[in-house]
Amino acid sequence: MTKRVAMREAVPEDLPALRALARTSLVHDSDAEAIVELLWSSAAEGCRIVLEHTDADDDADGTGGTRIIGFALGSLRPAHDALPATGHVELIIVDPEHRELGHGRELLADLERRLIAAGATRLRIRGNPPHFAWPGIDIRYTPAVCMAAAAGYERLLDCNSMLVDLAAADLATEKDEQRLTEAGIEVRRGRPEDEQALRAWCDEEFGGTWGQEAAMALRTSPPTLHVAVRDGAYLGFAGHGMQRADMFGPMGTAEAARGHGIGAVLLRRCLADQRDAGIEVAEIGWVGPARFYSKTVGARLGRVFWAFEKSVAA
Ligand SMILES: CC(C)(COP(=O)(O)OP(=O)(O)OC[C@H]1O[C@@H](n2cnc3c(N)ncnc32)[C@H](O)[C@@H]1OP(=O)(O)O)[C@@H](O)C(=O)NCCC(=O)NCCS
Repeated sequence: MTKRVAMREAVPEDLPALRALARTSLVHDSDAEAIVELLWSSAAEGCRIVLEHTDADDDADGTGGTRIIGFALGSLRPAHDALPATGHVELIIVDPEHRELGHGRELLADLERRLIAAGATRLRIRGNPPHFAWPGIDIRYTPAVCMAAAAGYERLLDCNSMLVDLAAADLATEKDEQRLTEAGIEVRRGRPEDEQALRAWCDEEFGGTWGQEAAMALRTSPPTLHVAVRDGAYLGFAGHGMQRADMFGPMGTAEAARGHGIGAVLLRRCLADQRDAGIEVAEIGWVGPARFYSKTVGARLGRVFWAFEKSVAA
């Protein structure tokens, strides 16, 4: 009887097996397969790995008894703005039948080595925008939370998402839009030709990756983004679905234009798009102003994510 387990770099042909593992393991994410696609596309070179199990006595499917029982994906954020190059552990999954045998630990350690080899000087388990699925580990994936702690990671600030029941939320904007029009403010769906100017405006006004995320939303058909404009100048934007179809955000209103209800209209327009697309519950990711979302569309605090970081000894 020959049984062995081996790690190797993943190839695109492995994707169906990875999607199947995600479908059975990511029980709190109904779009598990799309998450694999998203994190596969943004993974760093050499940071997609699979764990294969061979049982030579079990060749019923003609594969020599070899099948994928786990995988790990990682991405890299180059050094920027005085922040060090960061390796992100994006996703690790082990087949339920092969858990608690040390495979998760092995996959994590190998992924860390690869991320460090690719230049990372610190490691994080926290979304790596603009291509992120979560802002950390949903604490209901408790073994994963324990694994991070056991591997020497320290907790960063927790993050939350909020949930909106789209059938119950008041998403009407007509009256508010009328009022804004009278004040010379046009609210409209983004257009592909907005990309350059909107991205520059987001970079200037908010920094971070919102400009890139806005650009991603403008490239879908139709664009999943709405803007508020006065005299040709952007005052606010909100987008949805650029990482995952049921996700809302980011959104932002220029500081000087806040308090006029622009954000509420932009938010409702996006959620109405999602409702029209058949989504029942939208998830507002990585929430800052809980009061705004709660008051405007009855959002409730939803998932809790713990983010982690580990420094890499020089
Ligand atoms: C998290 C996961 C990858 C661990 O894989 P595994 O092969 O079972 O893990 P290992 O046997 O190597 O154990 C590594 C550590 O994980 C933790 N762990 C694993 N199973 C656990 C459990 N049932 N309860 C608590 N901690 C657990 C432990 O800390 C363990 O190390 P320790 O025993 O030295 O403390 C696996 O549970 C899994 O695929 N879960 C579903 C997918 C998931 O949650 N992925 C992360 C989403 S962001």
